[in-house]
Amino acid sequence: MTEELKRLTEKIGEELGAVKDLNELEELRIRYVSKKGEVSMLMGKLRDLPKEERPAFGSAVNDVKQTIEEVLHAKKRELEDRALLESLEKEKIDVTLPGYAFRQGTIHPLNQVIEDLEDLFVGLGYEIADGPELENDYYNFEMMNLAKDHPARDMQDSFYTDPTTLLRTHTSPVQARTMLEKKGKPLSIICPGRVYRRDDDDPTHSHQFTQIEGLVIDRDITFGHLKDTLLKMVRHLFGPEREIRLRPSYFPFTEPSVEVDVSYVKQNGEIGYIEILGAGQVHPEVLRMGGYDPDTYQGFAFGIGVERIVILKYGIDDIRHFYTNDLRFLEQFKGVNR
Ligand code: DAH
Repeated sequence: MTEELKRLTEKIGEELGAVKDLNELEELRIRYVSKKGEVSMLMGKLRDLPKEERPAFGSAVNDVKQTIEEVLHAKKRELEDRALLESLEKEKIDVTLPGYAFRQGTIHPLNQVIEDLEDLFVGLGYEIADGPELENDYYNFEMMNLAKDHPARDMQDSFYTDPTTLLRTHTSPVQARTMLEKKGKPLSIICPGRVYRRDDDDPTHSHQFTQIEGLVIDRDITFGHLKDTLLKMVRHLFGPEREIRLRPSYFPFTEPSVEVDVSYVKQNGEIGYIEILGAGQVHPEVLRMGGYDPDTYQGFAFGIGVERIVILKYGIDDIRHFYTNDLRFLEQFKGVNR
């Protein structure tokens, strides 16, 4: 019997030498030391032995079993280590290889202007306000001092979805909403957003475009504050050498109202002016409707078209370029403002 054990140990030793991977090793383990393996079978033979030989044989079988298990375990570790080394070797990264080019998007030119002006005005202490694009006639017109039969409503041909609801024609209704929200407290806001008009008769107009509204209300706000703010904004957008020119104009929500022009150098070297935005001091009636006493509070407001800024800055001939997502157009604005 002990002979048999010795042979078994030797046989395993030989077979182990030939094992090439973990699967083969597992097969070996099952064949010898699992419940139905050869070593367990030897234990079964214990019954055939004379009583006095049984303990010695039993413990010999156990020793052999333990030895085999240890050897198998060691082999397993060895195989695992080798497999790890091989995979590390195989997956070695060559850091000198050229990388794949990563196609990066660009920020839309309209958003670049919006972000740029937001930065400027937040730096001046303004808050950024927001309002709905589907707006109530009351905020869009009436609170902006355009009563139902006001002829100036024709200045802003509109899309109505029902008799009291329309796509906002300007960002000015956010003035009304913010005034009501601030409940008579001083405020400084800018509000960028999309606006809609039935007006697309030439390539520089679109039925949908983008505006930024500005509104400041406080005690002792004068026209001088407005002028200084406009000059800061225009120089920030177009360069420190620019001048502005104010022309008297009319908006129902401001009094006095102005049209603001920015200076530029013509091809012949002369200085020219081109219209860029509308502005004015907040109309007393607008203040009153918004919950501010016009004898105590004054304000100024302005509304600027974002497309117009980009068109003037870069000489773009067709406003539809902004909305058609042609990468050849959009990618030209990579890093322009940052
Ligand atoms: N809401 C005007 C428009 O869309 C622009 C405008 C002009 C806004 C003067 C203002 C302002 O706040 O004071 O044509």
